[in-house]
Amino acid sequence: MLEYLHLVNVGPAPEMEMELAPRLNLITGDNGLGKSFLLDLMWWALTRRWPHDLNPRLTSGYPARPTDPRSRATIGFRLTSKSRQGVAYESHYVARDEAWTGKAGRPWNPGLIVYAHSDGGFSVWDPARNYWKQKGRVDVQERLPGYVFSANDVWDGLAMPVDGKPTLVCSGLLRDWAIWIRENGENAQHMASVLAGLVPAPEYIAPGPLMRLSVNDARDIPSIRTAYSKGVPIVHASAGIRRAAGLAYMLMWSWTEHVLAARQLGEDCTTQVVMLFDELESHLHPRWQRSILRSVFNAARVLLPQATIQIVAATHSPLVLASAEPEFDETMDKIFHFDLMNGLVGLREVPWAKQGDVVNWLVSDIFGLQQGRSIEAERAIEAAEAYMRNDHGALPIGLQTRDDIHRELVRVLAGHDLFWPRWVVSGERQEEKS
Ligand SMILES: Nc1ncnc2c1ncn2[C@@H]1O[C@H](COP(=O)(O)OP(=O)(O)O)[C@@H](O)[C@H]1O
Ligand SMILES: [Mg+2]
Repeated sequence: MLEYLHLVNVGPAPEMEMELAPRLNLITGDNGLGKSFLLDLMWWALTRRWPHDLNPRLTSGYPARPTDPRSRATIGFRLTSKSRQGVAYESHYVARDEAWTGKAGRPWNPGLIVYAHSDGGFSVWDPARNYWKQKGRVDVQERLPGYVFSANDVWDGLAMPVDGKPTLVCSGLLRDWAIWIRENGENAQHMASVLAGLVPAPEYIAPGPLMRLSVNDARDIPSIRTAYSKGVPIVHASAGIRRAAGLAYMLMWSWTEHVLAARQLGEDCTTQVVMLFDELESHLHPRWQRSILRSVFNAARVLLPQATIQIVAATHSPLVLASAEPEFDETMDKIFHFDLMNGLVGLREVPWAKQGDVVNWLVSDIFGLQQGRSIEAERAIEAAEAYMRNDHGALPIGLQTRDDIHRELVRVLAGHDLFWPRWVVSGERQEEKS
């Protein structure tokens, strides 16, 4: 579990400090303020590798560069290792080597780490397969440093050099899922239940038969049953379903392979799992956004009943936040917000406050909108408000008279908009007076 992160002279903010919560950490903030970057840093702190170094096909996850190369840049962090002890380290940038310093000897074991990138790629670090160690005074062979999948690799398989030879280290969703379906065992059941949990009906109902895409394509492709079809090949499914299938598969693959590897090594399975999600809601319809957080927790409970799970999720979705309200527990969960003040980016923990519906979230400090309406409607309402309080200096060009404002309100507002009664009443009062 990651407990603490402290960045100086690296990333969009001059300094950034974060005490993480043990269960759920939500990260919000405008585009470009550093949410994805922070997740990359977390992955690095936990695994000591940059995702892009392990797989250049990934479109993100580059090594962090100091903002001012002449000043000292540091990344400090504290995490709980397998033995449940807190370990802390401060790494600094060595400009001449273009690298960050690391602790000598074997790395800490932070448990299983799964990082879902926003573009459909995933990074996985498995304490049984990526953690190399010494037994007595013997160096056990060096292991792969981690698994980083581009979006395509998730589906078609991941090859990595092992002893200089390209080696298939993961067969990919299409092959593995087809095998699980043929085996008709626990893996197929788990995949079906995790996917059913992630995708609300009626978009997805159950796994369908294996299908061929073309006579020239020998692959047996898993399919899904939907409300309108007995079998849609998974590669033809919507981006939302594919995103959910990729996530379900990556959770399944990480865990089943971890269990196998641990067994082979005669070790216990890990009891710590950290999941990092960038843009948790990407590709998802509002109805799915509303359930994704709970579904992820449920999936984790199905697959990893014994593990403690820490989640860090960056989100732009007011629905994800609204959906967190019933489960959010301030003793275990936190929300962080990036903002820009006087040209400086800052990250701060914000007190959790239920907002109720999505519009309240949109107009809260977290999203900072004035209204949930169109920009034109917002402008017309602001003009109407200024008109009603006789603040004629605040009326924008083109909306100077009551008639102009009224015409614009008619053009841009819905007939049942909640603003109408106030405007109509104020007009009637004005008529009474004159
Ligand atoms: N490898 C890197 N090294 C240093 N700074 C980076 C790196 N990658 C991204 N950044 C910083 O992060 C910013 C992009 O932030 P990002 O995390 O993509 O924003 P968000 O996810 O909140 O939209 C860039 O403008 C840059 O300042
Ligand atoms: Mg981002």
